[in-house]
Amino acid sequence: MAAPLTLSDVEQRAAERIEPAWHDYFAGGAGRERTLRENEEAWTRYRPRQRVLAGIERVDLRTTVVGLDLATPLLVAPAAYQRKADPGGEVSMARACAAAGAGLCLSTFSHAAPFEIAEAAPDLPRLWQVYVFRDRGITDELIARALDAGFAAVVLTVDLPVLGSRDRERRHSWHLPADELPAMRLARERGLGGDDLEVIDPTVDLAYLERLSTTLPVPVVVKGVLEPEDALRVAEHGARGIVVSNHGGRQLDGVVPTAEALPGIVDAVGDRLDVLVDSGIRRGVDVAVALALGARAVLAGRLPLWGLAAGGEEGARTVLELLRDETATALHLMGVAAASAVPRDAVRRE
Ligand code: FNR
Ligand code: LAC
Repeated sequence: MAAPLTLSDVEQRAAERIEPAWHDYFAGGAGRERTLRENEEAWTRYRPRQRVLAGIERVDLRTTVVGLDLATPLLVAPAAYQRKADPGGEVSMARACAAAGAGLCLSTFSHAAPFEIAEAAPDLPRLWQVYVFRDRGITDELIARALDAGFAAVVLTVDLPVLGSRDRERRHSWHLPADELPAMRLARERGLGGDDLEVIDPTVDLAYLERLSTTLPVPVVVKGVLEPEDALRVAEHGARGIVVSNHGGRQLDGVVPTAEALPGIVDAVGDRLDVLVDSGIRRGVDVAVALALGARAVLAGRLPLWGLAAGGEEGARTVLELLRDETATALHLMGVAAASAVPRDAVRRE
């Protein structure tokens, strides 16, 4: 029998199971991969404070994000092409989330259609990530399909008007045939040519965000904000939440790690937005630090993907459960009783 999966060995186990070209796609970052490297390290620049005799029986992990109730402050980040990590793809990921009490954000470029997620995990809190296509009618149709399938919020990713410069991807041709992805099948049916990234409209602007926020019956979350000014602008144009993100170091190399950007953004927006964060989250203590810095919840990208690759649904579930349990343990030892109310002074900047 294989040894139990741990958070420190899951990446290596996944690397042994993913086809090398696809592993480069999942693992890689932009440019020199400076931001990719610093994302993980930046969470460790904050030290949790050990507080004793707090009299806590059990940490309450529940929280609410843009009106959506979550059993834990954890969501799986939108990540494309999950069947390349494991044949079960996003369906297995969804079941793993449901079992571990995490929410799911489904990518525009998912292998599974939104209704398949609804069938596999009917009660799962789920958000749909949108890349805006050059034909906005197609985008509207994709959003409608997601809302029909019970997706409770739309996450508009804004840090990819164009793809980052990624050496590892240049070495391989990783674009998928359009018929593998439901969103691309629809694009073809509607006469839109080009591969998956060529269909993205680079001209999306604040007016588009405003249109989306005022016409949709669900909240809009903007993913990919790193500057306080941008956070304020998207709040003014109708966003209910943001994800402080540098896309896991895959877009503009050299930008600030999210652990550095988060506190300033939280201070700037106050109660106007629910602030989420991702990039570089690998341990529960990172989640605890993010909550202390003012995030309401955290998205994990590669970590659950590695779990999925290492062991299918069970692997993803194990990784999410370990992340959840480590978060509870860290908060407990920090003397914090609830994930929804972690004080800023629960951590210290080194
Ligand atoms: C992503 N990410 C992403 N984001 C998005 O909005 N839509 C997408 O389709 C994808 N696709 C994608 C594929 C892969 C392989 C990765 C690794 C990432 C970015 C993702 O949502 C998230 O921002 C980062 O993954 C967070 O960083 P960590 O947790 O991977 O360090
Ligand atoms: C990526 C895109 C698809 O990061 O979001 O590869």
